[in-house]
Amino acid sequence: EPLLAALSASAVPVLPVVVVEDAAGAVPLARALVAGGLPVMEVTLRTPAALDAIRAVAAEVPECLVGAGTVRSARGVADAVGAGARFLVSPGCTGGLLDAMEASGVPCLPGVSTASEALALLERGVREMKFFPAQAAGGAAYLSALAGPLPEARFCPTGGVTAGSAREYLSLPNVGCVGGTWVAPPAALAARDWTRVESLARAAAGLCAGVRR
Ligand code: 3PG
Repeated sequence: EPLLAALSASAVPVLPVVVVEDAAGAVPLARALVAGGLPVMEVTLRTPAALDAIRAVAAEVPECLVGAGTVRSARGVADAVGAGARFLVSPGCTGGLLDAMEASGVPCLPGVSTASEALALLERGVREMKFFPAQAAGGAAYLSALAGPLPEARFCPTGGVTAGSAREYLSLPNVGCVGGTWVAPPAALAARDWTRVESLARAAAGLCAGVRR
């Protein structure tokens, strides 16, 4: 099933993005997100601990849909899927990266930030994509302007999305879900403050539930 369609249809269309420095914290982190009402987590492949984190969550917290973010190469695709990632997200897209993501058989959200990049994906039959870096590239106004000419495309805006802007994005017809680190900020992870993550997740869930549906 396409990832955005599934998240969009879920009660809480929010994708927590996490940068894990300590793999041992990944399991309690995933449990905190689940407890707060967000049973999904994108682990960015930006730290040496990322693959171990994906492995641990896939094995120990099956109720959390764990995926990999910051996938930038065919090697990243193979590493992530090998570790148990159930979806893949990339900040941008090349032909080679898209080939690898599609061949993996795992749902993916290739990144775009322009109409031409979105058209290139639509041309290949890919309708679900990440809009990155969302806030810096033009925010909700920009995404809204793409809805007219590119009605088939569905986006997950990520990059600078906050508790304050999530609702506006979610109110757009071409937004399937929103993503970001605001739910699991680096400071809370460093402090192993799972209670804080749980309460941020609950706040995100409460903020975003029922915006459109
Ligand atoms: C990403 O990888 O999607 C973004 O870096 C998330 O960024 P944020 O911290 O702006 O939410």
